[in-house]
Amino acid sequence: MRDEDINWDTSAQKRLSYNSYLKVPELLNLQQFETESEAHDELLFIIIHQAYELWFKLILFELEAAAARLDMDDVYEATRLLERVNKIERLLVEQIHILETMTPRDFLSFRSALNPASGFQSIQFRELEFLSGIRRGAVLKGIELTDDQRETLERRLSEPSLRTKFYEFLQRRGFDVDIPPDDVELDGEAGERTYNELRRLYENPEKYYHIYSCAEAMVEHDQNILQWRFHHVRVVERLIGTKMGTGGSPGVKYLQRTITKRAFPMLWAVRGMLNDEAFFETERGITQTLDGDDA
Ligand code: HEM
Repeated sequence: MRDEDINWDTSAQKRLSYNSYLKVPELLNLQQFETESEAHDELLFIIIHQAYELWFKLILFELEAAAARLDMDDVYEATRLLERVNKIERLLVEQIHILETMTPRDFLSFRSALNPASGFQSIQFRELEFLSGIRRGAVLKGIELTDDQRETLERRLSEPSLRTKFYEFLQRRGFDVDIPPDDVELDGEAGERTYNELRRLYENPEKYYHIYSCAEAMVEHDQNILQWRFHHVRVVERLIGTKMGTGGSPGVKYLQRTITKRAFPMLWAVRGMLNDEAFFETERGITQTLDGDDA
């Protein structure tokens, strides 16, 4: 069929169009230069940050939905949504490297105009941390917040995190675990009991396949954020070296310290506690069954 033979339904176009539905004109009007000279790389700088904020919005939406699914014991759907989050986050890790096409000199041509704005003030990034279970209220102290922003972050801090919801879900599934408070690994009797139960989960992935897959999706979410932090700090180092951040922190030195933050430290630690014997028992079991089948 040739283009001119296509019978376009113009009434449908009038009702809704790609541009009106997606608000493309409005979207393309949101990139406002801060430098009078309109420094060449400032457009990249604005768009990359805006793109991150859009993806953060979707990640928050999906993490909330995944948490709600866990509350309903719908582990399949929770895991499916977490896997979507993980794919988006992998894209976000890749995306930071676009900034390496900017030279330190080009960045300096507009950096001072950005002062004191900084990614440190990203409300959605903090929401993402708080919702996941990385919660250090102190982070709020360093940020100037509007009343609405403060309310949003305080609400996130007052609501149970994804990590809490996951441990509650484990309890409902018969795992005798305690719920680790935010930013804390359990110790003492509660820690030992919880680790024993997590070992049961990790030593029997095929038995608890859905719960195990969900736990691993959480770990991957943690890993993606850690990787983003690592790649972000390297890009920052390439661009500003040891200079202070526009947000007022010591820059790379500060960011380097954040690379240890995890929402699910016990899910990471448990793999160092797995029982080798249990593994060999299973291996032997499988070998014997196969031998038996052969006979
Ligand atoms: C030229 C590129 C960039 C530079 C030089 C840079 C630099 C910095 C520095 C120095 C900090 C520490 C806080 C401060 O004192 O300002 C910081 C924090 C941060 N930046 Fe960037 N950044 C860049 C790009 C990005 C991008 C594209 C994002 C995407 C959203 C981003 C998000 C963040 C976040 C969320 C923090 C807070 C991290 C935390 O406190 O854990 N940055 N950045």
